[in-house]
Amino acid sequence: MTVRNGAPDAHGARVRGIFSEIAQRYDLFNALSSFGIYRSWLTRMARVAACTAEDRVLDVAGGTGDVSFELCESCPPASIELTDFTPEMLDVARERIDAGANQGVPVSLAEVDAHALPYAGASFTVVTCAYGLRNFSDRTRAMREAARVLKPGGRYVVLEFGTPPNAAWRALYRVYLNHMIPFIGGVVTGDRAGFEYLRDSIKGFPPQDQVARELKEAGFSQVSYENRTGGIIAIYRAVR
Ligand SMILES: C[S@@+](CC[C@H](N)C(=O)[O-])C[C@H]1O[C@@H](n2cnc3c(N)ncnc32)[C@H](O)[C@@H]1O
Repeated sequence: MTVRNGAPDAHGARVRGIFSEIAQRYDLFNALSSFGIYRSWLTRMARVAACTAEDRVLDVAGGTGDVSFELCESCPPASIELTDFTPEMLDVARERIDAGANQGVPVSLAEVDAHALPYAGASFTVVTCAYGLRNFSDRTRAMREAARVLKPGGRYVVLEFGTPPNAAWRALYRVYLNHMIPFIGGVVTGDRAGFEYLRDSIKGFPPQDQVARELKEAGFSQVSYENRTGGIIAIYRAVR
């Protein structure tokens, strides 16, 4: 694994600390906390990315590799650079590669901070980022970095928690977020405080239209998004 850039700021250090603690149980938490629905969100994200054998993909905040391995399965690209700034998350990704999750697609792992991507401009045709944006200290900077490393015409595909437009569904979802996320996280990983942070990061993340505006301001065009599960999740597509 390659370590490509320096130490994160205080917020980043806290986030990295949380993910290093929960890395081994992160996949189990995902499956339980979403009642298994997260798989359908990933499949949809891969459809939106629509990779072909010509594509060179950068997976930012790729964690244990869910997005990368879904692409390998659904629409195999030429190669994937699977990056994250928490080495323990990438260790799990490495174990999954050893078990064949990349299905023959060349997947390289690199310890990289999303705010300072160590790649030349126009290096990739697709950049993906799932559940990453809301953890970043400076979302705009991370979006600009994604734009910089994409070739003209390249796609930025982002999956993130959203704000459900229906008030009743939103209220129900808030109850779930407030109580169930820390509870399930605490039971699965023993780190309830870490999941209180994750809950707060979801609640503090802006609604879909604002994220779409930020993507335009960061240099993307043809910005669109689709809601999944009533807007609990949004999948964004933006073109460089
Ligand atoms: C909720 S996990 C998502 C992992 C993966 N994308 C997935 O879909 O399962 C968030 C990931 O973002 C990473 N992360 C947070 N801030 C980061 C940053 N500034 N640079 C790179 N990775 C970051 C964390 O280490 C963690 O692995």
